[in-house]
Amino acid sequence: MDDFEILAQTIKSQIDKVKDLDDIEKIRVATLGKNGNVTSLMKKISTLPSEEKADFGKKVNDLKLKIETMLSQKAASLKMEMLKSKFLERSLDMTIPGPLKSVGKIHVITQVINECVDVFSKMGFNVVEGPEIESVYYNFEALNTPQWHPARDLHDTFYISENLLLRTHTSPVQIRTMEKQQPPIRIISAGRVYRNDYDATHLPSFFQMEGLAIDRNISIADLKGTLESAIRAILGHDKIVRFRPHYFPFTEPSVEVDVSFEGKKEWLEVLGAGMVHPNVLRNVGFDPDIWQGFAFGMGMERIAMLKYGINDIREFPRNYLKFLRLF
Ligand code: PHE
Repeated sequence: MDDFEILAQTIKSQIDKVKDLDDIEKIRVATLGKNGNVTSLMKKISTLPSEEKADFGKKVNDLKLKIETMLSQKAASLKMEMLKSKFLERSLDMTIPGPLKSVGKIHVITQVINECVDVFSKMGFNVVEGPEIESVYYNFEALNTPQWHPARDLHDTFYISENLLLRTHTSPVQIRTMEKQQPPIRIISAGRVYRNDYDATHLPSFFQMEGLAIDRNISIADLKGTLESAIRAILGHDKIVRFRPHYFPFTEPSVEVDVSFEGKKEWLEVLGAGMVHPNVLRNVGFDPDIWQGFAFGMGMERIAMLKYGINDIREFPRNYLKFLRLF
């Protein structure tokens, strides 16, 4: 073994023992750095007699290449090991449940409104909107309910001024629509209404969907057919729909519609409806001898109660997440 081989062995055993990248760098500096021992051997070449230069030079060069190769291989394998241990440290346990993302959802009443809009749209009704703060004229007068009318007592509530109130029903939208559009008319309109009521089936603020159809030959058969098929499309075809005579100042004749609740043991009223009163048509300048129509006002919470078997309407505004997440 010549000196070069011995040197190569020594350096190799040093490199073999190395544990981190810093030590690799130290060896590189000690051998191939500016003052490294291999570098000084290179420098020695020029001082040698020319017949020795070639042989010596080749050996120094081979040694230099050998060291470079060993250093870079060692560096690569160290890096690999570091990477491996890092992976092991943070290794994935596929059985740990992931972080829960809380995703919001559409409120159950909005879902019901959307479903009703869907059903009535398919029957040719267009969606319109009206204000929640109404004038006495739109909320009562134009709907054939003058100041002295006893029916006002049922709705007499939440006045903002002498002339303005929170609407007690969505029926003022009927008037607003007929003032703007000529028949034939088919509209629905959903929104909040306000009443001085509070118990298991009544809220001081709830949602109604108003419907109005005006045309030349509309009869109560159209009202019955439309409402019965719409309610069944919304609530299920097993539901029994009951029409009961009733009174509203703005329809004649008038009905209330109940739907079987909890396996027919009970009925829940879901809407009021009727044939639009001739006075209402006159109030918007329609000739009742030419135009007839029907109107209805449906309670959205009531529909949701029937759809999901909810017994207490007060659950809706309570907004308990446990309740809201059910739908
Ligand atoms: N506006 C009535 C109510 O809130 C319901 C209704 C609407 C009745 C349209 C007849 C026609 O009770």
